[in-house]
Amino acid sequence: MADSIGVFVAWPYASGDPHLGNAAGALLPPDIFARYHRLKGNQVLVVSGSDSHGTPVTVAADKEGIPPEQLFLRYHERIIEACRGLGISFDLYTHTDTENHHRIAQDFFSRLYEKKYLYREVQKQLFCEKEQRFLPDRYVEGKCPICGYESARGDQCDNCGNLLDALDLIHPRCRNDGTTPVVRETEHFFLDLALFSEQLQDWLKGKDFWRPNVTTFTQNMIKGGLKGRPITRDLEWGVPVPLAGWEHKRIYVWFEAVIGYYSAAVEWAKHSGQKDAWETWWKDPAAKGYYFIGKDNIPFHTVIWPAMLLGYGGLNLPYDVPANEFLNLEGKQFSKSRGWWISVLDFISRYDPDSLRYYLTRNAPEAQDTDFSWYDFWRRNNDELVATWGNLAHRVLTFTYRNFERRVPEPGQLDAADREIIRKVEAGFEPIGQLLEGCHFKAALEKVLALAQEANRYLDQKEPWKKINTSREEAATSLYAVLQVIGNLKVLFYPFIPFSSQRLHEYLGYEGSILGEQKVETFAEGKKTHTALVYSAPTAQVSWSPSQLPPGQRLREPHPLFAKLEEKIVEEERARLGQVVG
Ligand code: MF3
Ligand code: ZN
Repeated sequence: MADSIGVFVAWPYASGDPHLGNAAGALLPPDIFARYHRLKGNQVLVVSGSDSHGTPVTVAADKEGIPPEQLFLRYHERIIEACRGLGISFDLYTHTDTENHHRIAQDFFSRLYEKKYLYREVQKQLFCEKEQRFLPDRYVEGKCPICGYESARGDQCDNCGNLLDALDLIHPRCRNDGTTPVVRETEHFFLDLALFSEQLQDWLKGKDFWRPNVTTFTQNMIKGGLKGRPITRDLEWGVPVPLAGWEHKRIYVWFEAVIGYYSAAVEWAKHSGQKDAWETWWKDPAAKGYYFIGKDNIPFHTVIWPAMLLGYGGLNLPYDVPANEFLNLEGKQFSKSRGWWISVLDFISRYDPDSLRYYLTRNAPEAQDTDFSWYDFWRRNNDELVATWGNLAHRVLTFTYRNFERRVPEPGQLDAADREIIRKVEAGFEPIGQLLEGCHFKAALEKVLALAQEANRYLDQKEPWKKINTSREEAATSLYAVLQVIGNLKVLFYPFIPFSSQRLHEYLGYEGSILGEQKVETFAEGKKTHTALVYSAPTAQVSWSPSQLPPGQRLREPHPLFAKLEEKIVEEERARLGQVVG
């Protein structure tokens, strides 16, 4: 029976262009995972959208002197372009300022309130006297009370990752004007997290397959004692609190953004014409929901969102939360303000998206922070992607195309070496699939690459381009064998580098799309509309299992799968870094 696999992707703040760190940490892994599971024949739903609210958006809008709505809509479009260019196969990429999301987030809030999981409390909060307003957490900076880091934000410390209460910051200052804020009272709703402590611990007991950093962080947080967390804010931009008398407050961005995983599934179902279809991933207890996030998002996905779901009732809790560490850039953290930064859109305007997908997976920050370096990118592109895989496919296809009437040759008797290389690659599907299912993407890609290396060795021994002068049949046989291998490697490489697998699929003479189609659509809700990215699944009959390329199949004219890059790009690209723009 097909498994139901929910692929939930962290909602990027629509306050800037996605950079390579976002791609490596939270966008590519879910796409690899989803493309694999579709080929396995599982029922896959991939949803996410732009996080339209929150202080990252208002801070950026303030800086430009434009309303937050204008700013987030601009970046929503640009994030969609980046995801489309990278081939991230979202069934639905929407945003959090839709009527659907507002309604569902408010319903969540109301249900938790009715079930007494929320309480009201007058809270002390930092107030900027100069600006005459309460300061959102991110508008305050100070010293971290836990690790002593000097520039901790009011909501979270970037150094130790702990969630903070802005009031606990040592020497707080207003980020806008540097003044020292004063403490004032304001009433807010709190999520009573402590009520869920035991249930969360029980749920965690079955999670021995989680990444160790995720488990450790979560257990420490629960052991440290869960405190109520404020889930409303004194703000104008966000989802309104659904209660009379609360018109000037908003639901806290983190409380409503996580609800997006569910509201987007509901929106997707409505759009696909089967309005209850979301239940497959949210109500069937056998369905598995995977949350792909960066490590700074762990507490929200392993404690707060599960607690909210427990309180709401009837919806599935996360199955796995394969959080990634960070990607650095040439040895330093990404920083847009310092120009130490590469946007996905800029990158793919000059390079093949598969080159980026390949390198970011080869160098994925799964277990520790890793580094993007232009030299390493250049080297791996040429030495691995081009030399090992692209050239293998290209030399076999061009030679066959020219010498064997543009068809897969009819083989003679297969010898031990022929059978062995075919068998080895066929035997790759099972273990590589296991690695992908366990979210070990880097290890899975290494295994596929190793198979391509074996195929090269086989070909170097057989030398059909020489053999053809003495025995056409022997040349035909080894070309046939290696074409079988290439046909299967096309599938094994597909989750990682789907664009080139599509090209190869065509050169091998097959019809239809394995890539699937990404479309930007306008969704209407009452009088409002919004832009969304949607996906239609592959039309070609390809599955995650060995297949045979029939002798006699007509080939299409082959072209190199990838471009070799000149060494001078390394210096050119490095020179672009550190230039502050905008
Ligand atoms: N917008 C947040 C960030 O970029 C992530 C939100 S994930 C969600 O860090 F679950 F809350 F949506
Ligand atoms: Zn800290």
